[in-house]
Amino acid sequence: MAPTDSFAEAFLAGLHARPRAIAPKWFYDQAGSELFDRICTLPEYYPTRTELALLDQHAPEMAARMGDGAEIVEFGAGASVKVRLLLQAMRTPRRFVPVDISGAHLHRAAAALRRDHPGLEVLPLAADFTADLVLPPPAGRRIGFFPGSSIGNFEPAAAEALLRRFGGWLAGGALLIGVDLIKDPDVLHAAYNDALGVTAAFNLNLLARANRELGADFDLAQWAHSAFYQPQHRRIEMHLMSRRRQRVQVAGAHFDFDEGDSVHTEHSYKYSVEGFQALARRAGFAPGAVWTDAARRFSLHWLEPAGGPAPTTPQEDMA
Ligand code: AVJ
Repeated sequence: MAPTDSFAEAFLAGLHARPRAIAPKWFYDQAGSELFDRICTLPEYYPTRTELALLDQHAPEMAARMGDGAEIVEFGAGASVKVRLLLQAMRTPRRFVPVDISGAHLHRAAAALRRDHPGLEVLPLAADFTADLVLPPPAGRRIGFFPGSSIGNFEPAAAEALLRRFGGWLAGGALLIGVDLIKDPDVLHAAYNDALGVTAAFNLNLLARANRELGADFDLAQWAHSAFYQPQHRRIEMHLMSRRRQRVQVAGAHFDFDEGDSVHTEHSYKYSVEGFQALARRAGFAPGAVWTDAARRFSLHWLEPAGGPAPTTPQEDMA
């Protein structure tokens, strides 16, 4: 097993690294997935409701591009709320394949979808799409769905590698992807520093998860949520910051932190429409339609494979 394939190994390696960093996919245990769903309902967190409104408004157009009998593969499906708008607009969806790292969450959502779409085949896959995902052969034209601007979690080079990998999985099908847009830093700041502290709880849950799963002894009161916009990198950075000098035990090892030491937990890159299209082209896609809201907060992109069969991609490093 590669060193970052389990939470234990990723967490320990992340604390040993300089700068200390743990990949955001480890946020999503059961508690973390539930906290993320709460983030999506916060007034400050504009991406979810903006993207839902775009899907609601343009689903018929999107469904027409997919064609009859298409299959949707959603990467990081979570509660599978957004895809419902697409499935309702499609006349005869053939199959829905939600992929998520959080198994229980995934299966609950899949059961609810089966109840609401009796004719639809739902094939949930509990897997990490940055690592070990194996997809069955397509049933109908395969459409990839990657909403929420999850692509923002990846450094530009890794985002390009991930899109290229999606291209291979889609076997000639298209990708519908949500991308958060560059905007007023105050709006961005508020979205990651909500008044109720749900984003802080989501970030701190990483340490709570280490306590639960690795027998660590993090005192959460001694750690602060820190999220800020870095305009030169066009990204929000999230960190967990030590409020004082402290020693923490994790799985038999100990780690020392000074006051102000941080553990980097997330990047959330923001793009211009043109900047994202350039990235998509580098990854082997031909950008098609783009849907944005009037305030240009969020975008949904239709990407077709750029001519010829998609190349099969070797495992590329996207952690
Ligand atoms: C799921 C990666 C799109 O970056 O906005 C929300 C995660 N982190 N609040 C984002 C997140 C803090 C979210 N993505």
